[in-house]
Amino acid sequence: MDTKDSSAVDQLSVEELAAKLEPDLLPKHVAIIMDGNGRWAELRSLPRIAGHREGIKSVREMITVCLELGIHALTVYAFSQENWNRPIQEISSLMGLLEYYLSTERAKLIEQGVRLRTIGRLDSLPASALQWVRAAEQETAHLDRLHLTVALSYGGRAEIVDAVRELLQEAEDGKLQPDDVDEARIQQYLYTHDLPDPDLLIRTSGETRISNFLLWQVAYTELYFTPTLWPDFRRRELLLALLEYQRRERRFGRVLSTISP
Ligand code: FPP
Repeated sequence: MDTKDSSAVDQLSVEELAAKLEPDLLPKHVAIIMDGNGRWAELRSLPRIAGHREGIKSVREMITVCLELGIHALTVYAFSQENWNRPIQEISSLMGLLEYYLSTERAKLIEQGVRLRTIGRLDSLPASALQWVRAAEQETAHLDRLHLTVALSYGGRAEIVDAVRELLQEAEDGKLQPDDVDEARIQQYLYTHDLPDPDLLIRTSGETRISNFLLWQVAYTELYFTPTLWPDFRRRELLLALLEYQRRERRFGRVLSTISP
C-alpha cells in the first residue's frame, strides 16, 4: 500500500473500513500466527499468561468478524511443537487456558455454527486438555458456517513427515505406486486435507517468518505482517489486513490485463 493510501485508510472508522471491502474478493480461508502475547503482557508488567488471556479475546473477535463477512475457514496457530520448550509453568498455564476456552466457549461456538477442529500431534497434549478438544470437535462436527482449525502441538515439517509415513505405508501394502504420487495425492494426507489452502496468512508482532506453519499449504498464500501485538489485533486490524489483501488481488488483475493481447 503506498503512503497516501495507507494514511487515508488510517483515518477511516471501522464502519468505513468494512464498507470499503468487496464481498466478492474476500479470502475463503484466513490463517493466523498469533504472536506477541508475551510482549503485550511484559509492556504492562503483567505475567505472560495475562497476554495469552487477552489473546483469547482477539480469537473471539476473529471468529465474529469471519462469521459476519462469510469467511468460511479460519486457522490459528495456538501452540507449536517448539512451544514445548517453554518453561513448564507457561505450558501448563496455556493448556489450562485452552481447557478454559473450550469449556466456556463451546456453547457459543455451537450457537454460531462454528465447527472446531485441531491439527497437530495431539497425543503430546495433557489428557484433560485432549478430552476437552475431542469433546468440542465431536459436538461441533455437524456445523458448517465457519471451519475453525486450531493448530496445537503443530509443526509443518512434522505434518509432511506424517503424510510421507502414510504414503509409504500404502506403498508397503501394495496400494500405491511411485507414479501415483503427485501434489494432489500428498495433499490428501495432510492434516488439512479437507480445507482449501489459506488465501491470506497474517502474522502479528512484527516477526516476518513462517515458523513452520502450514508449510505446504502457504505456497501461493498472500502474506501479511503487522507490528500489532496479538492481543491488540482486533476487528479494525483484521479489516486493514483484508483491505490490503484485496488491494493485492486487484493489482494482480491489472498486471494480467496489461500483458494480455
Ligand atoms: C505467541 O505469543 C502466542 C502463543 C504461543 C499462544 C497463543 C495462544 C492463545 C492466543 C490462547 C489460546 C488460544 C486458543 C485458540 C484457545 P508469545 O508468547 O510467543 O509472545 P512473545 O513473542 O511476545 O513472547
